[in-house]
Amino acid sequence: MAKLNTTTRAALLVLVLSIFLFITVSESRKLSIAAKAKPVPTCDTVFGVREGDTCFDVAKFFKLTTAEFDSINPNVNCTALFIGQWICIGGTA
Ligand SMILES: *[C@@H]1O[C@H](CO)[C@@H](O)[C@H](O)[C@H]1NC(C)=O
Repeated sequence: MAKLNTTTRAALLVLVLSIFLFITVSESRKLSIAAKAKPVPTCDTVFGVREGDTCFDVAKFFKLTTAEFDSINPNVNCTALFIGQWICIGGTA
């Protein structure tokens, strides 16, 4: 009987810890999702779009990945680029 109690207690402890861990993990996920949903990028360097430039060309030229490019240019519509448009090529998101 005493052995069963110990086992039950241990099982309960594991259960409580699991729940605690689950809540902690989901809370931190929520926070990182919230942080991603509202990016406040700062731009250090801009580039003026020239005739024929695409986001891909510019990102490649400045050695930016698509993810980096998108994160510092949240408001740039790459299918509607215009000549002289300023796009960010260096900054932090
Ligand atoms: C980007 O521009 C294209 C062409 O003007 C337009 O069809 C599309 O809806 C725009 N996308 C966004 C997200 O504004």
